[in-house]
Amino acid sequence: MNRSDALVLFGATGDLARKKLFSSLYALAARGRLDVPVIGVALSDWDDDRFRLHIREAIASTVTDPDDGVVDRLCARTTLVGGDYADPTTFERLQVALAALGTSRATVYLAIPPVLFPTVTVGLARVGLHETSRIVVEKPFGRDLASAVELNDVLHRHFAESDIYRIDHYLGKESVEDLLVFRFANTFLEPIWNRNYVSSVQVTMSEAFGVEGRGSFYDGVGALRDVVQNHLLQVVALLAMEPPVSPDADALRDEKVKVFRSMRPLDASAVVRGQYDGYLNEPGVAANSLVETFLACRLEIDSWRWAGVPFYVRAGKGLAATALEAVVELREPPRMLFVDASLPCPHPNVIRFRLGASDGVTMTVEAKRPGRELVTNPVHLNVDFADSLSPRSEAYERLLDDALEGDHRRFAREDGVESAWRVVQPVLDDPGPVYPYARGGWGPPETDRILGVHHWHEPLVPGSAQSL
Ligand code: BG6
Repeated sequence: MNRSDALVLFGATGDLARKKLFSSLYALAARGRLDVPVIGVALSDWDDDRFRLHIREAIASTVTDPDDGVVDRLCARTTLVGGDYADPTTFERLQVALAALGTSRATVYLAIPPVLFPTVTVGLARVGLHETSRIVVEKPFGRDLASAVELNDVLHRHFAESDIYRIDHYLGKESVEDLLVFRFANTFLEPIWNRNYVSSVQVTMSEAFGVEGRGSFYDGVGALRDVVQNHLLQVVALLAMEPPVSPDADALRDEKVKVFRSMRPLDASAVVRGQYDGYLNEPGVAANSLVETFLACRLEIDSWRWAGVPFYVRAGKGLAATALEAVVELREPPRMLFVDASLPCPHPNVIRFRLGASDGVTMTVEAKRPGRELVTNPVHLNVDFADSLSPRSEAYERLLDDALEGDHRRFAREDGVESAWRVVQPVLDDPGPVYPYARGGWGPPETDRILGVHHWHEPLVPGSAQSL
């Protein structure tokens, strides 16, 4: 691996940069992990000072108590190249700026609307920057299988796969990566992590807020494209994959691709789409939009480990709480023979990975209820990572560091992205109805029809009735 000697940020005056990337660059600088020049590129007539002011404002609104010295040093290494991405001279000026700094291995980050990815890729190649740079591509990577294949083709015309970094910021979350470590670093789990002991797996990504001013983007995308095909299928892959044969990036990504390839393409009868009441009044949303703000589905993985075990996935906006959880429910224990048959059966054990803001693991096991009878009572074995582990870095901070370092482990590979699109493509081809749902609940009631014998596990939200 070869650390980059410059960072080029296309979309430098855009939303993603303002909300996520400058705070991440600040955090990297504060940790001494950013000592290279940063060149922003944007359609803008700002000079460097105006751009630096923008960075200061972005950091002030996203970082608590930023250190002025770190901000000054970050700004001092930052400049802006303004220009239209369709204009070849923009790239010529970028190349001159990089050469003047004496750099030869830039990381070029495309934090821009996907429709511009091909234009910028070709623009970089025209001035020869494809030969020395690596390219980081934001999500969404395509709108369906065909467009993802096409985008991969455009990128591969100019960049080797080893120089392409496809962002899925869920892969940069410490809590999500912990799924891999928790599974493969704890011996007690492996013997039960299969169809003999697991009865179902659920992944819930719920957001209590709506589209929050992103209506025009969201209305062209919907929940399936926005978070299921990428973020949530990645979480499923980490829960379902076999142990990688080595710690390198390709071994890890090989195993994930095997999971996607053994998933059956989604069947319409296993999908429920919903739209929250009031979505049609959001700015930027078409008055007759049928785009889903909620999607639940049942995935089947045809492998020796998982055949017959449903993987339920649901994601939505305007729901009761903001949470991200993966819940593994074990099979029911047999009724204890020495217990009165009229008493309830012990509950199945549940292993709950809390992957969102208050991350940790909660296992629900059975203990004896005090009293004369041998009656069971569920109790929680709980760990909060905020209490037990040192502070964790934000996803974008880790991913920027990885890209600069040339570490692919937390980025999606070509075949991974395409095989995930293949799983969801039937729903894109034939989306079926979209059911209305009230804000503040758990989506449309129709969601229960995909469940079979199981029930939804509502996330444990601190402070709610469900909390510990
Ligand atoms: C983004 C989606 O990729 O992920 C958003 O476009 C979503 O719609 C967001 O809200 C959720 O990310 P996180 O890290 O807050 O779970």
